Amino acid sequence: MNIMFVSSEANPFAKSGGLGDVIGTLPSELKKRGINVSIMIPLYKSIKEKYASRLKLVDEFKVQLSWRNQYCGLFTIKENNIDYYFIDNEYYFFREGYYGHYDDGERFAFFSKAAIESVKHIEKRTDIIHCSDWQTALIPIYLKTLYAQDKALAAVKTVFSIHNIEYQGKFNPYITGDILGLSYEEEQLIKDGDSVNLMKGAIKTSDRITTVSTSYAMELKDPFFASGLHRTVAEYSFKLRGIINGIDTSEYDPEKDKYLPFRFSLDKMQGKYKNKEALQKELGFEVNAAIPLISMVTRLVSHKGVDLVQRVYDEIMALGVQLVILGTGDSSYEHFFASKAGDYRGRSAMLNFFSAEMAHKIYASSDLFLMPSKSEPCGLSQMIASRYGTVPIVREAGGLKDSIAPFNPVTGTGNGITFMSFDAYDMLDAIRRAMDIYSDPQMWKTLTKNAMKKDFSWKSPVAEYINLYKELEQE
Ligand code: GLC
Repeated sequence: MNIMFVSSEANPFAKSGGLGDVIGTLPSELKKRGINVSIMIPLYKSIKEKYASRLKLVDEFKVQLSWRNQYCGLFTIKENNIDYYFIDNEYYFFREGYYGHYDDGERFAFFSKAAIESVKHIEKRTDIIHCSDWQTALIPIYLKTLYAQDKALAAVKTVFSIHNIEYQGKFNPYITGDILGLSYEEEQLIKDGDSVNLMKGAIKTSDRITTVSTSYAMELKDPFFASGLHRTVAEYSFKLRGIINGIDTSEYDPEKDKYLPFRFSLDKMQGKYKNKEALQKELGFEVNAAIPLISMVTRLVSHKGVDLVQRVYDEIMALGVQLVILGTGDSSYEHFFASKAGDYRGRSAMLNFFSAEMAHKIYASSDLFLMPSKSEPCGLSQMIASRYGTVPIVREAGGLKDSIAPFNPVTGTGNGITFMSFDAYDMLDAIRRAMDIYSDPQMWKTLTKNAMKKDFSWKSPVAEYINLYKELEQE
């Protein structure tokens, strides 16, 4: 069985968030279990510049996009024993950044069409195309429309994964004929009120839909979470499955982490405390093991729940804690947190950039990791924090709910602290409960041990994907 992952990101070539991490690890985990996987992504400028000498040309051909006839170069690199394919067209991809251009609709329509054409130019047969998010949503749509009569592709099945339903690929309907090259009848698949919606079309046309946790799969039928697509998801939920992500347990390993000044493990926790001292020093905080250090590593956008933190910032600081936030995002949040960090200088910091090294140090050195997301399809940070013995405080939504079980002081079970409603004072109450447990060394030790012991590897998710592929193979 040959699976082709088509995605707009894949670590180590292109990553802006969780999608890049997942496509950077899931395929190699499948490969370890004997499944043949390849990965296809756009040849962005950053990749072309960095990997120029390793890129091998597979083929060159033209891709038709409505009235356009565009060049497509298909390149490949073998990395980690996996064939990566890159779609080259400098007009579309030789730019800064991956997204956010005025013509993203056209860029990813080209990418999706080129990906389908490429499958025909690669010797190895493709059985399943596994797509992720709106950037590849046109693949199942095209296979059921423009390519419906194409014998070479007739046996190809599609899986469409939703990593976040908030980004649907919604455009002005003028693109249907002029860019996508679809007819009026075919447009009905993607029609969504006054717009066209690519994710909606993929939900209808793919052979299976997956999303990145069981709870999120249920939430997708709920208008609170589904950004307008709850009815479509409900209608097609017979082919929907929630499979939680794992994390790369070799990259996030407290015993081997190359970014940490001190390594540690369940039985040798001194390293963690030394890291905490080092971070306190680096941030200009009072170096004191007894002061609880709370952290956030996040995009500063509303669905991450930063409004809640904004609302009760002073109340949190009044608990006598230290607080560090690492991330970038909406400038209103960036300004707010920077100004608060100024008010609480020496106890609070806003690191307004992104750095893998700093992220690792924060995950490893903090006592508590705050993730109060309004919605969270899966979330990887809470799992990473947990693995480093940093106790997650999370809202019970999506993957947060599925990965973090509330600590029960009586039974001593659970790997974090949770709260249910999207409410700043409920979150504050959860932080207070955390402080209470923190002040009891025995209980704290039990909780941090539970956190570190929890299995966040890809082992069981990979088994579920394999079942899904096998099911498809038999249809
Ligand atoms: C998106 C989601 C996040 C998930 C990631 C990987 O970034 O917002 O919750 O962990 O995709 O699936």
